[in-house]
Amino acid sequence: MRVLWVTNDLPPRAGGIQQFVANLLDRVHPHETVVIGPAGGMEAIAHDAAQPYRTVRAPGAVLPTRPTRRLIVDVARAHDAQVIVLGATWPLGELAPGLDRALGVPIVALSHGLEAGLARPGAGHLIRRATRGLTAVTAITAWTEQRLAPYVRADRLERLPPGVDVERFTPEVDGRGQREAWGVPPDATLLGCISRLVPRKGQDALVEVWPELRRRHPDAWLALVGEGPLEPRLRRAVGRLGSDGRVVMPGRVPWPELPASYAALDVFAMPCRTRLAGTDVEGLGIVYLEAQACGVPVVAGRSGGAPEAVHDGVTGSVVDGRDSDELLAALDRWLSDPAGRRVAGEAGTAWTRRRWAWTAIAERFASLLDEVTTPGRTAGRRSPGDGPRG
Ligand code: GDD
Repeated sequence: MRVLWVTNDLPPRAGGIQQFVANLLDRVHPHETVVIGPAGGMEAIAHDAAQPYRTVRAPGAVLPTRPTRRLIVDVARAHDAQVIVLGATWPLGELAPGLDRALGVPIVALSHGLEAGLARPGAGHLIRRATRGLTAVTAITAWTEQRLAPYVRADRLERLPPGVDVERFTPEVDGRGQREAWGVPPDATLLGCISRLVPRKGQDALVEVWPELRRRHPDAWLALVGEGPLEPRLRRAVGRLGSDGRVVMPGRVPWPELPASYAALDVFAMPCRTRLAGTDVEGLGIVYLEAQACGVPVVAGRSGGAPEAVHDGVTGSVVDGRDSDELLAALDRWLSDPAGRRVAGEAGTAWTRRRWAWTAIAERFASLLDEVTTPGRTAGRRSPGDGPRG
């Protein structure tokens, strides 16, 4: 099947949408796919050259503008695309009615936490507008699906979570080299967070409880991996802990080093919390899946669909990311209990292999593409140029 992907989120930039899109691209019709992605430098050129699909880099960001629409129409015609997949519903879905008029092929869009955050009074019209020309929208969790349902105007709303590559993220990966590179002693108990450094993720809450945790666990270290706008503030807060803070901030790790970065940890924590009147919310949190797949227990924040990424009490804990006492208690418990960590780690590996492996998810996505491109199989499938729904 000839597929055209349109996305503003592609590796080598780090992030959940990039990870989601890249994994589907690898697994579903990679040799018959062309991707339109955002402008990128040398790292992007090297990344694209190593893929089985062809990537067309736009001159800037891929946003719903006239030049983007023209580029998509040209590439879709040259590729004779049978289906268009948008890497995110908002704002790219706004392109759909115009593309439908010009091309008349089904358009499927992935959604993430952002769209679920907008699906609320005051902002829901953005989701209505971005979904009226779509054949199908996917939702990553039960929570995001429930939030989106009243606003989505596409023919179909389907559950499609991101997964984890259980061949790459395994307990067998050796994290000792990564620890050494970060300057963490081999016998330390290492708590860590691997995520973009943005306010929702809650790295600041980890730094806040760290002095007390360090007092209770003199052998413990904290690693805050990733980059983002919160970095200067976090570095200042870490600096205030003094020279014996035992906190490392190694920055962004390259994609190939991700599994070893999780494997370096004894406990993973990302105490995310919902912000900005509910619009900034966690859709799922692929990082929790990656950590659990590597056999590392996780502490997650109770925000949006994040609790669905953890088997609470079995593979980790779910806490209120704004409640420092609850966060401290959960981290203290996992840092104090090496045997419990081993049991939870094994349960996490088994759970992610059973429930979050890409194989089944990619099959579901491939079936969705089959269904929307097979005449008569999509309820309400329209002819080209029918105009926007709803
Ligand atoms: N290479 C690299 N380097 N990758 C990183 C780094 C880094 O320093 N830091 C984080 N990542 C990767 C993680 O390993 C993970 O694969 C991804 O970036 C982050 O994914 P999420 O935890 O899902 O968070 P997000 O906020 O970027 O993603 C959004 O979309 C996801 C997919 O729909 C959110 O809406 C998530 O809730 C949602 O799961």
